[in-house]
Amino acid sequence: MIVTIDGPAGAGKSSIARDVAIDLGFAFLDTGAMYRAITFGAMQEGIDLADVESLVSYAANAELSWDDDRIDLNGNNVSEEIRTPAVTSNIRYVADPPEIRECLTMQQRRIANDRDIVTEGRDQGTEVFPDAQCKIFLTASPEERARRRHRQLQESGRETTFEEVLTAQNQRDLEDRLREVGRLRAAPDAIVIQTDGMLADAVKNAVLDAVRNCM
Ligand code: C5P
Repeated sequence: MIVTIDGPAGAGKSSIARDVAIDLGFAFLDTGAMYRAITFGAMQEGIDLADVESLVSYAANAELSWDDDRIDLNGNNVSEEIRTPAVTSNIRYVADPPEIRECLTMQQRRIANDRDIVTEGRDQGTEVFPDAQCKIFLTASPEERARRRHRQLQESGRETTFEEVLTAQNQRDLEDRLREVGRLRAAPDAIVIQTDGMLADAVKNAVLDAVRNCM
C-alpha cells in the first residue's frame, strides 16, 4: 500500500509521516531529503547552479540511498548537512528542471516498489504515485506554519524573528506552487487535513484514521 502525504513547507509532513509509518509498520520516504541531497552535493562540487545542463548531468550520476531516517549521497551520510539554510535557499535550482524531477521520480518509484510505504513531499500524490491507495494533503495557514518553525528554531538556539521565518516560507511556497512540473497542489482525490490549532498527536490520529479508511 502506498500512502502519499503532500503539503507546503512547515506543515509537519516529515514528522507526521514518520510517526504514521512507524504505527502502521510501513517504510517511510522523505522525498524533500532527496532534492536537498542533490542540492548539497552540487554545491560541494562547485557546480554553477544556474547551469541546468551540468546540474542535470550531476543528478543523473549521483547515487542516492535512503534508509528510513538516513540519506546517503555517493556513499556518504549527508542527513545533517542537507538541512542548512544555504541548501534550502538553493533547492529551486534542483527542484525546477523537469529532467531532474524525472530522475528523482524514477528513484522514488523504485524505492516504493513492492512495499508498504508512507512517502511525503510536494508531488507524491499528483505525479509520482497517481494511483496511490491513500493520498493526504497536510496543510496549515502560513502564519501557523511559520509560528511552529520559529518555535523549533528558537528551541535549537537559532536567532531569527517570526517575520524572517514567514518571509522565507512565503518565498518557498511561491516557488513550490509556481513550478512548471511537480508543483505543490492537492491531488483531486486527496484527503485535505487542515492542521491549524491541532496538536501533533491529533494530526497523527487524523492521518491514521484517513489511512485506515482507505484500507
Ligand atoms: O520537504 P522539504 O522542505 O525538505 O523539501 C525541500 C524542497 O524540495 C521543497 O521546498 C521543494 O522545493 C522540493 N521538493 C520537491 N518535490 C518533492 C519534495 C521536495 O520539489 N517531492
